Parts: sequence; C-alpha cells; structure tokens
Amino acid sequence: MPERRERGLNIRKLADFCSKTGIAFPTAEEYGGLSGFYDWGPRGSQLKKGVKDVWWSYFVERKEFVVGLDGSIVTHPRVWEASGHVDEFHDPVTRCSSCGRVYRADHLVEEVLGKNVEGIELEELNRVLRDVRCPACGGELEEASYFNLMFETEVGPYGGVKSYLRPETAQLIFVDFPRLYIANRKRMPFGVAQIGKAFRNEISPRNFLFRLREFEQMEIEFFFDPEDDSCPYYHEVADYEVLTLTVEDQEKGREGEVRKVSEVVADYPGREWMVYWIVESLRFFELVGVDMERIRIRQQLPEERAHYSADTWDVEFRFDDLGWKEIEGIAHRTDYDLKRHREFSGSEKYAVKREDGTPFIPWVIEPSWGVERTVLTILYSSYREDEKRTYLALKPWVAPVQVAVLPLVAKDGLPEKAREVAEVLRKHFRVEYDEKGSVGRRYRRQDEIGTPYAVTVDYQTLEDATVTVRERDTMEQVRVEIGELVSYLRERVTW
Ligand code: ATP
Ligand code: GLY
Repeated sequence: MPERRERGLNIRKLADFCSKTGIAFPTAEEYGGLSGFYDWGPRGSQLKKGVKDVWWSYFVERKEFVVGLDGSIVTHPRVWEASGHVDEFHDPVTRCSSCGRVYRADHLVEEVLGKNVEGIELEELNRVLRDVRCPACGGELEEASYFNLMFETEVGPYGGVKSYLRPETAQLIFVDFPRLYIANRKRMPFGVAQIGKAFRNEISPRNFLFRLREFEQMEIEFFFDPEDDSCPYYHEVADYEVLTLTVEDQEKGREGEVRKVSEVVADYPGREWMVYWIVESLRFFELVGVDMERIRIRQQLPEERAHYSADTWDVEFRFDDLGWKEIEGIAHRTDYDLKRHREFSGSEKYAVKREDGTPFIPWVIEPSWGVERTVLTILYSSYREDEKRTYLALKPWVAPVQVAVLPLVAKDGLPEKAREVAEVLRKHFRVEYDEKGSVGRRYRRQDEIGTPYAVTVDYQTLEDATVTVRERDTMEQVRVEIGELVSYLRERVTW
C-alpha cells in the first residue's frame, strides 16, 4: 500500500527527470512508445554500465570462487520445459467485461483491497476477485486465468523451431553446468555469474523502470555440496544487521525489526552461504549508493515462492509513493534445476563426485538482481533538490561523468589549456569537457547528472599550473596542481 510521502519524490517525477537529462526514456516515443520497453540515453547507458562493472568486479573479479558466463538469449525450448517455466511461469490475468482493460489479477486485488494474494490458487483468487470492480469504469471483471510470461519466437524459416527468449539468465548457467564445472577444474563450491537481458511479457508493465518487459539481470548460481556446506567467510557476515521481516512477522502482522541476518535464516543445508550471499548483496547495494535506511530483507511467504524455491529472501526498497518493492531475490533452489536437467536431457553430467567417489547433485543458492531496479533505487536514493539546484549525489564509481573539465571563460587561451587537461584525465576517468554558457550554469548541468568533480581552468592556471577542483555535494573548491590531479582524483573515484 502506498506510504506517506516524505519528500515529494515519486516515480513519475523521477521518470520525467530521467527523460529530460537523457538517462532513460520510453522507446520509440515518436511512435507513441511501447509499454514495458525503455531506451537508455548517453547518461543512462553509462550509469547502467558503471553499476554492472562494479557488480562484476565485486562478485566475479574479486571472488576467487566465482566465474563468469555469457549465455544465449534465444534458448532451446526443452530448457524451459525442464526448468518448469513452460508449466509454471505465469501470472493471473483478468479483463473488464465492460471496457476491456486488462489487469494482473493479484496486483489488482492488492491495490483495491490491500491484500497480498500473490501465489494463491486461482480458484481462491477468483473468489476474492468477486469483491473487486474495474478501477477505470466500475465494470465487472472476468474470471482470472493464467498467462505465461515467456516470449515465444521461431528459429529459422518455414515455421522453424519454436523457442523462447530467456525469462531469466539463470537457466543458462544450469543447463551449461557440465561444461562450467569442468572449466572451473571441478572445484566445489563455486559460483557462476552472468549479466544479461531477460524478457517477460508482463501483464501490466508500469512504474517506469520497475516493471519492464525487457530488462537485465545480474545473477549468480552458487553450487555447493549439501553435506559439506560450511562457509569459510561466515565470520565476516555473521554480525551484519538489517531491518528484517520474517514469515512469522508477516503472519503476526508485525512490522519487522533490525536483526542479524544470521539470526533469521533457517537451519537448512547451505544456511551459512545463504547468510553470506544476503549480506554481500546488501554490501553491494550500499557500495553503489542505495539508501540503506530504505532497505529491508523480507522472507517470502510459502505461497509466494517460485516453484523451484525452498526459501527466498527479497531485498526490498521503500519508495515513498510505491511502498516496499523487491529489487533482488535470494533463493535457495536446492538441487531442483540440475535434477530436472538430468531428467529431461538424460545426461548424467549434472551429477558430480565427491573425493570419496560418491555422486551427488549440487545444491544452489541464487542471488538475482534486476539491473534496472538497482539503477532506479540508486537514482531514487541520490536525487536531491534545494532552492538552487537539482542534483544526483551519485557515488563517483558509478557516475556517468566522473570529472567535468571547464575553462572559466571560453577565451584567452583557457579552452586550449582546459582541453589539454581533459585529454590527460580522459585516460583515467570518464571526462566531459564543457565551455558553453556561464561557469555557474555548467556546474549546475554537471550536478544534475551527478558528476562528482569539476575541474576549472582559470587565469591562475596559466601562471602556476594549478586548477580548482569543485566537489558536487559540498560545492567546496580546492586548488590542486595539474601534476597531482590524476592521483588526487583517483583516490576519490575509486571504491
Ligand atoms: P516481481 O514479484 O516484482 O514480479 P519477481 O519475483 O518476478 O518480481 P524474480 O523472478 O525474483 O522477480 O526476478 C529476479 C529479479 O529480476 C527481481 O528482483 C527484479 O530485480 C528483476 N525483475 C524481475 N522482473 C522484472 C521486470 N518485469 N522488470 C524489471 N526487473 C525485473
Ligand atoms: N533467476 C531467478 C528469477 O529470475 O526469477
């Protein structure tokens, strides 16, 4: 349910801001757009890349036991039969018998009656739906039915082979497991990470970047032996605290409380790793600039959980206008997926051997982030407005432009000197040179896109080879020698 508005920032306003600044806007606007599809402009594509780069570095390059994969988007149809998506990956849809508007039935119930009915049986949902009318025209709603969210396609001419665009990146990691295990020199436990597009034919795409039909995921499938499941890094995460909402809290109507993650995760094989991945996820969000005061982890209710999941914790973000919303899911998938691929393909390669020769199917913990939802929460967290300016307090490592280089005025040799400085900095940072308009306006333009540092070349520069460096949030300026500039900035833009 919508919560109180604390600072007048809502998704609509953020969407307008993003269109205006060239961060993200509806695709093909001149043709009226296409619902659920957005394009990322110059600022946004760089911001998104910055976030994905930090993620890849944090979870793949800096973790000895995680490797990468870049799997195909159009996928063998049997993969989705095995995964359960052909039979289970659907949402309930209903239509107004009077005006023809289409709604995702469970979300409509939640909006109108304030009841979370995600995942309940269709029959029960239809009973609840009898108390709901079309919000647009007051008409009667048709019985809800299931709608499969996968986009189908045909591969090759003359009807070709029916296939699907992947609705999650995860399944490529599962189906490729035999090769990945060998490529990782048969070590266990290990994780495989992937960043890439996913497609879901959502019934009601909305809320700007929140619910899209084409989006990107950053996912890790972490494989482990359920009989040898201790996590060597557990001591680094065991004391981490965050606002938590357990199943019990929800059943008793409680708000949840700040607790250690290690206190709320149930005792099952892989528990320590589950705690590890939840905490690492939260640390990542903090690193990229998500407001942690607006974060909680919520345990999914049994009826909400996906068909493959034994336990799932969502990382949720509190938007002032939308309330708590999932930005990442961390699922305990047990051996469900590998077992299914073994069954459907008939291949024994989905089982591996312990040192003593006994075979087993690895179990899996899966943290799954949406790139767009992550960027959306970063934007939401960093948006600032005061009497003088609107700015994004982005972390320097994700900012689309890290350093702006500005000649004080566009004459007297200052542009030439400033371009020289920009060329040096460009080898190390994301740099933008700007000489158009008053310097005050140029600062505001950079503030608006979240540029953390502005280097200004003025008359003194020509005399003593120093420049001013202005910091975005405090607007304070210091003088720095050009020779020191790279190291001065590097210290501040590196995480
Ligand atoms: P929701 O309940 O909001 O539909 P979900 O439970 O279906 O989300 P998952 O299937 O757990 O989401 O997907 C993993 C992650 O992928 C989500 O946490 C989210 O960040 C992202 N994601 C899923 N669906 C969408 C979408 N339609 N648009 C943008 N991101 C999405
Ligand atoms: N891979 C988890 C999901 O997309 O739902």
